[in-house]
Amino acid sequence: MQIFVTGGAGFIGSAYVRALLADDYAGAAGASVTVLDLLSYSGNRANLPLTDSRLRFVQGDISDSALLRELLGGHDAIVHFAAESHVDRSIAGAVPFVTTNVLGTQVLLDAAREAGVGRFVHVSTDEVYGSIEEGSWTETWPLAPNSPYAASKAGSDLLALAAHRTHGMDVVVTRCSNNYGPRQFPEKVIPLFVTNLLDGKEVPLYGDGGNIRDWLHVSDHCRGIQLVLEKGRAGEVYHIGGGTELSNRELTGRLLEACGAGWDRVRPVADRKGHDRRYSLDITKIGDELGYAPRTGIVEGLAATVAWYRDNRQWWEPLKARTA
Ligand SMILES: NC(=O)c1ccc[n+]([C@@H]2O[C@H](COP(=O)([O-])OP(=O)(O)OC[C@H]3O[C@@H](n4cnc5c(N)ncnc54)[C@H](O)[C@@H]3O)[C@@H](O)[C@H]2O)c1
Repeated sequence: MQIFVTGGAGFIGSAYVRALLADDYAGAAGASVTVLDLLSYSGNRANLPLTDSRLRFVQGDISDSALLRELLGGHDAIVHFAAESHVDRSIAGAVPFVTTNVLGTQVLLDAAREAGVGRFVHVSTDEVYGSIEEGSWTETWPLAPNSPYAASKAGSDLLALAAHRTHGMDVVVTRCSNNYGPRQFPEKVIPLFVTNLLDGKEVPLYGDGGNIRDWLHVSDHCRGIQLVLEKGRAGEVYHIGGGTELSNRELTGRLLEACGAGWDRVRPVADRKGHDRRYSLDITKIGDELGYAPRTGIVEGLAATVAWYRDNRQWWEPLKARTA
């Protein structure tokens, strides 16, 4: 089996590629992998086992149709992670989000169809639904994104589903909750807070800290994606969640404790513009149809994540220095 992974040098994509190459998924044992990644600020070669003979790494843009034409032939599936992924950056400037997430996804869909690639798994986010006060979103919930990031992902989801309906492409869309784990770029809340705390610095808590997110360990997310790749129904959307909702305040408390720091290190900052109050995914569908359930509990997952950042300063220190 040959799998083409876009954005495979980023946080989640590289976790997926490492799991594939470690033969963690029986259904893809022995698979060879092509990674196409632009190596934007969040892409990092050091996330990949570049010497593995089953891996081919290509630095390039998903919007480069000529390059895609060269590369895609012979692949059985595409798993599409490549995106601009940080909400705060989309608030500061939305154009790269539209270019990569919307236009890039369409270029990739067209190239996949021309090349006759089989399954196309489009990796998306719960943020496309907006915010929910109570209860949980099901896969048929109307899209109501609030940030430019979420709007660009919603656009790409609709284009992916349109490629299925219009052209009969074998497309499946996944929408997941907030991921955490090793190798997440230290601009996102967990690695930002952990690395600041490890450095004796303060952490910035948005607004009243009452915004609620569901936390999903990256290994559970990747296993869910693989289940969808192997067994998901074409044209369908599947939620992948972690089953642990925490307010940002609760999360901060856990991270302070794990790093041996107190609340004096927390600096309240003005809330993010248009900050969604709560995200909550119903994961009944993927559980019933594909047998997915999260395996990594938040206590062990956070402890292992904090330990990883404590033990791998050489990975994150240059990234923080570059973006400071
Ligand atoms: N991190 C989360 O909590 C989360 C939650 C829900 C959904 N997602 C989705 O998962 C996917 C991966 O997210 P992540 O957290 O790993 O992000 P990331 O920013 O760590 O990785 C994105 C990768 O895409 C690459 N990339 C960016 N533009 C590209 C382009 N034009 N062509 C080729 N490669 C390009 C980057 O170099 C990087 O390696 C994204 O689609 C994101 O929307 C992430």
